[in-house]
Amino acid sequence: TDNTHHFPDGFLWGGATAANQFEGAYDQGGKGLTIADVSPGGKDRIKTLFSADYPLEIDRANYTYPNHQGIDFYHCYKEDIALFAEMGFKTFRMSISWARIFPNGDDLTPNEEGLQFYENVIDELLKYGIEPTITMSHYETPLNLVKQYGGWKNRQLVAFFETYARTILERFHKKVTYWMTFNEINTGIGGSFFSVAMRNEGPQANFQALHHQFVASSLATKIAHELNPELKVGCMSIYATMYAYDSNPETVVAMKDRNRMFNYFCNDIQVRGEYPSYALRYFENNDIELAIEADDLALIKEHPVDYLSFSYYMSTTISTNPEHASAEGNFFGGTKNPYLKASEWGWEIDPIGLRVALGDLYERYGVPLYISENGLGAIDKPDGDFNIDDDYRIAYLRQHISEMEKAINLDGVDLFAYTPWGCIDLVSASTGEMSKRYGFIYVDLDDQGQGTLARYKKKSFNWYQALIASNGRSL
Ligand code: BG6
Repeated sequence: TDNTHHFPDGFLWGGATAANQFEGAYDQGGKGLTIADVSPGGKDRIKTLFSADYPLEIDRANYTYPNHQGIDFYHCYKEDIALFAEMGFKTFRMSISWARIFPNGDDLTPNEEGLQFYENVIDELLKYGIEPTITMSHYETPLNLVKQYGGWKNRQLVAFFETYARTILERFHKKVTYWMTFNEINTGIGGSFFSVAMRNEGPQANFQALHHQFVASSLATKIAHELNPELKVGCMSIYATMYAYDSNPETVVAMKDRNRMFNYFCNDIQVRGEYPSYALRYFENNDIELAIEADDLALIKEHPVDYLSFSYYMSTTISTNPEHASAEGNFFGGTKNPYLKASEWGWEIDPIGLRVALGDLYERYGVPLYISENGLGAIDKPDGDFNIDDDYRIAYLRQHISEMEKAINLDGVDLFAYTPWGCIDLVSASTGEMSKRYGFIYVDLDDQGQGTLARYKKKSFNWYQALIASNGRSL
């Protein structure tokens, strides 16, 4: 049979966003401040993300805050969803901002205005037959939980998250089937402020924070399945296919060491339901002692996720030879891979690495896979009429989708969804820039917050529309 460019019937094509990066209206509708609201824009942001002195206040004298305005999806959602529908989206991945529902994170009652906003957005999606996929926590923990409780290393956050998850699940379970708990949970291993909502305090605190998120995620999964066993709850991690630079067995061991901790540790727990032996040994060897409560491990075991989702932007190469050049700008560091080109931000573009990732993940876990982010951050140059010929973006996506197709049809992977990141231009998470664009839809807004906010279809808009209409055959 000819399986060329064939995707399974009902494949969920779509796009992905996060509340803090595109809603704007950061202080409207009863919303409290989140960690994203105190994260300044600019290229230095990434340095502070993993540092011990992350600012916890808005400091307008010294910084700008592009997340505050986002692209104003809060007010433009109808127009934007109409454009997603025009592209033929089957699903739309968005997050609920926890602080729109519980402004301080520890409030006793939810903010109805926040719930109503998301209900309006969900209804608008359903009007066009677009399935919402909702991330419960995407780099936007309420700021008060950092200031008063010290972030995720504090056990109390588990109960606050449980209340939040129960509130949104009870409200939306009849309208939303697909859920994700924590975005890119594995970035917490390195103490990312966005993930664990605390200053980087080292491995002991980071792994404790992650333990609390595993428990919180299982509680959310339990609640979802109690409401309706058909709901699908997934985990979400960032995946970087790892290569050994050469065949030196020492290099292979170094690569595998890094690979299992970064790419597998969180998935092992969230999909298989238990701490893997290599992690227990690692904790022991590094004097990490986790406070684990009596029922935690049983809860994690009994409530694993239904599917595994991951973001994929680049691969990384590990070398044990100090003379090899490092991969400047690659989010995961590593050594420059001589076979790959990098994006303008140094992220090494590797479509075949996505096929490798899909195969590795499916062979290891055997659960359905959802690619929840992928894409090319690039500088777009509109002409005077706002035409944008983003052939570079089309090329990137085409190559990656082509490898997905091989993973499905040649390797037997069960992949059911693909939501490229920033389907409409939005604020970059790592740099806070608008100029790092991923969208099929251009938003007229620059890094200084200037622009009309008008939306324009890029060339890739029509390309993706045709791709979805043909279920991948027009590739
Ligand atoms: C992922 C995040 O790391 O990558 C998104 O889940 C983020 O929030 C995306 O925006 C792209 O990264 P960046 O830094 O280019 O915005």
